[in-house]
Amino acid sequence: MLVVRNKEAVAEGVVSLTLARPDGGRLPDWAPGSHIDLILPGGVTRQYSLCGDRWDAHAYRVAVLREPDGRGGSAQVHDRLAVGDLVGVGGPRNNFPQVPSHGFLFIAGGIGITPLLPMIHQAELLGADWQLLYGGRTRASMAFADDLARAHGERVHLVPEDEYGLLDLASWLGRAVPDRKVYCCGPAPLLAAVEQHCAHWPAHSLRTERFTASELTAPVHQTPFEVELRRTGRTVTVTPDISVLQALRGAGVDLLSSCEQGTCGTCLTTVLDGVPDHRDSVLADHQRAANDCMFPCVSRSRGDRLVLDL
Ligand code: FES
Repeated sequence: MLVVRNKEAVAEGVVSLTLARPDGGRLPDWAPGSHIDLILPGGVTRQYSLCGDRWDAHAYRVAVLREPDGRGGSAQVHDRLAVGDLVGVGGPRNNFPQVPSHGFLFIAGGIGITPLLPMIHQAELLGADWQLLYGGRTRASMAFADDLARAHGERVHLVPEDEYGLLDLASWLGRAVPDRKVYCCGPAPLLAAVEQHCAHWPAHSLRTERFTASELTAPVHQTPFEVELRRTGRTVTVTPDISVLQALRGAGVDLLSSCEQGTCGTCLTTVLDGVPDHRDSVLADHQRAANDCMFPCVSRSRGDRLVLDL
């Protein structure tokens, strides 16, 4: 359990939490792009990107947007969580690692700025050439915008929609730049637009992180399939009405999970044989093609049988 050391409003509808061990001890290390599971009083679990200083071993910082149409987790953080409260924390885990590059273009939409903050810090430390394109509804809703502009001047391009309209992705991404990685986090329409505009960039130039699950299409395999658990020597049957995770749990296999929507990466499992029907929002295309891992909370099997390293 960690204790809430500080809670402050950092933009309209956004609060930041600073979390620490009650005894002030060291926390596990993390790298830019990491997130933690926040297990709120009452058991609600949500994932938030770490947006503080990775070199501060004694505090984690997250920023939480109030989501009026959400499932209640953000409202609980905004309305009820107080300084001194204890929260459970899982992770950190990193599905959005920052790879070395001479240059970076960071594209944030709204609260999507959070995983990019430590990446910007890292890019500065490494002397990389970087720019930030940051869009939001209004200037007042854009967390950390003023700090970023003050600290980094012309590298930071703030685009409040009510002043300038939508991000001009065609100008920013029209010309592919070798040795530049594009990191984007924000709402699904922004990610889709950036993916489209980066289609002609060299492979693996673009990295994205989703906060919400992609729309799930119908599973490839519509009939029951078998999952062999190689290490335990058991086989379970997955019927169309349950997930692989549920089938595993039904057979007494205790696999750690959190979001159960294919977005957090917690239930990552090694695939030894068979071809998964990847339905998560975590893996990049080349990682899917390797077919050596899957997320059993949403992903299924393309064939009659999968073999997992469980
Ligand atoms: Fe989050 Fe499976 S539990 S990806």
